[in-house]
Amino acid sequence: MSEWVEACNLDQVKEGQLFGLTCNDKKILLANLKGTIHATDLICTHADADLSTGFLSDEGVRCPLHLSVFNLESGEPQNLPAEEPVKVYNVKIDDNKIYVEV
Ligand code: FES
Repeated sequence: MSEWVEACNLDQVKEGQLFGLTCNDKKILLANLKGTIHATDLICTHADADLSTGFLSDEGVRCPLHLSVFNLESGEPQNLPAEEPVKVYNVKIDDNKIYVEV
């Protein structure tokens, strides 16, 4: 069963920024790509790398360790070495707060 959990304030994830946090014991990455907030797993599926220390671009979030890029809508890796998608989560904004369905 998933539930909506308050993650943080909207102004904590500014445009072009990545933000890592824990929601209901899940490590979550929030990314603000051109004003849209996306939520995925925080840890890369290839090895134990924190994607919030990676790089955000139009293609998605790039892992800092071996540079696989994950699409923020599908979670699919766009290049090797990662082969498994990261999970993606629904996001809603209410009263300047970000909620994630985890
Ligand atoms: S740990 Fe992310 S691509 Fe290797």
